[in-house]
Amino acid sequence: MFDSGVGGLTVLHECLVSLPHEDFLYLGDSAHFPYGTKSAEELRGLVVANTEFLLDRGAKLLIVACNSATSAGADAARETAAEHGVEVVTVIGPEAEIAAAISGTGKVGVLATPATVDGGAYRRALEEQGRGLEVIEVSAPDLAPIIQNGFPFDQSVVDTVRFYCEPLRAAEVDTLILGCTHYPLIAPMLQRILGRDVRLVTAGHAIAAKAQRILEARGLESTAEGEGDYGFLCTGDVASFRELGTRFLQMPLGDVERV
Ligand code: DGL
Repeated sequence: MFDSGVGGLTVLHECLVSLPHEDFLYLGDSAHFPYGTKSAEELRGLVVANTEFLLDRGAKLLIVACNSATSAGADAARETAAEHGVEVVTVIGPEAEIAAAISGTGKVGVLATPATVDGGAYRRALEEQGRGLEVIEVSAPDLAPIIQNGFPFDQSVVDTVRFYCEPLRAAEVDTLILGCTHYPLIAPMLQRILGRDVRLVTAGHAIAAKAQRILEARGLESTAEGEGDYGFLCTGDVASFRELGTRFLQMPLGDVERV
């Protein structure tokens, strides 16, 4: 599994819970954080590099736990992994399916990075649901870096989140997709600003379920009885990855290997 840094740990946590016997290797490409303001071409290059790296480490399935990387590079990841006979699970599709299923009014908001909004992957995925949904996208260039660097959150973080919520409130969305794996950490703020009736969509459990279906269909599921292992690699500073990562995963990270 990979992300631009620690955000994907919110997805990893769901996978650890749903697939307790599997071993996970998580790559945080923190040297290249943030992905959300990079060009599609740059992102595709990083996605291919990360994919090849994890396949070389023996991955039997690849999970792209980053919306920005998925938006620009899902096809590149699939093509690269297919050469090794490995399947890829990404974000975006599962979130769109859930949002289409639960929205009552058909007004769906997407809060995401510029790379994700500009790539149009959520708009396409929501259109494919065939419900004629009204889609309100808000591009938040500084939100992932603010969340990543913002602990403990202060009033300026709340003000920033409130600013990004204004168009969503004005459009009266009843469902909001958290289109960046960093955003589950500000779910309590979003819920207070948007109100209890707005449903917040994250897809960690749907991604874990999809991974499980693929592993079972291909006969690749772990036969181990006990808990599997999990390990961490990062391309940037190890100490800050470990410290931040512990907050995102809410579990100890142990050793982190710099790669
Ligand atoms: N976690 C990444 C995502 O889901 C965004 C963070 C970044 O900008 O690198 O899009």
